[in-house]
Amino acid sequence: MCYVIYVRVLRTMADGGPSPRERSLARLNSIETKVPVTPTEIALLNFYRASELHGGLILGQMVRRTRDPRLILSLTRHSAEDVMHAQLWTEAIIAIGGRPAPVRDTYQTRYAEAVGTPHTLLEVLALTQIFERRVYRHFTLHLRVPGVHPVVAVTLKRMLEEERGHLSWVKRWLDEQAKSRGQEVRNVLQRFALADQRIYEALSREYGLRWAA
Ligand SMILES: [Fe+2]
Ligand SMILES: [Fe+2]
Repeated sequence: MCYVIYVRVLRTMADGGPSPRERSLARLNSIETKVPVTPTEIALLNFYRASELHGGLILGQMVRRTRDPRLILSLTRHSAEDVMHAQLWTEAIIAIGGRPAPVRDTYQTRYAEAVGTPHTLLEVLALTQIFERRVYRHFTLHLRVPGVHPVVAVTLKRMLEEERGHLSWVKRWLDEQAKSRGQEVRNVLQRFALADQRIYEALSREYGLRWAA
């Protein structure tokens, strides 16, 4: 593959330089070869995959305990999209030569270890909001990492588009709850945000993410 592009580049140089399409192919090829994907990076993507799946499944479970039709729709859609995100990460991992692997360790299991398993809808959606805010910031930073693999970049962009919708409907629901039980909502969010900060710092250290903030 590299040899073919190299020969083509040499030929087009002789013909007066590469065409824009050939330049972009060569650039893509050089990014991929200059930035090989390490086992740690694959493990990080696998952690993203497993956490999206875990989050989606928890929200799907909540649907079974919900009566409000609008809430059933929002939870089902949200659950389906996060499960789809797990599929997209699975495809990305395979596309860059990695292997998706089952792991028990997810963002959600770390939350449960830190603050206990969330049971009520308020706890689940407050935790979802804290988690997705973190994911949004983190994916934005990941996208800015120099030389991020093109397949990973495309996947991150798709996530960022859909996570925006997740953040906004859950915020609307939490704001509505806060009208009748403001202190309770604030307390839950604060407790989860503190746990999230510690979990994120530990993860950043474990995966060597100097760009994480
Ligand atoms: Fe997601
Ligand atoms: Fe989400």
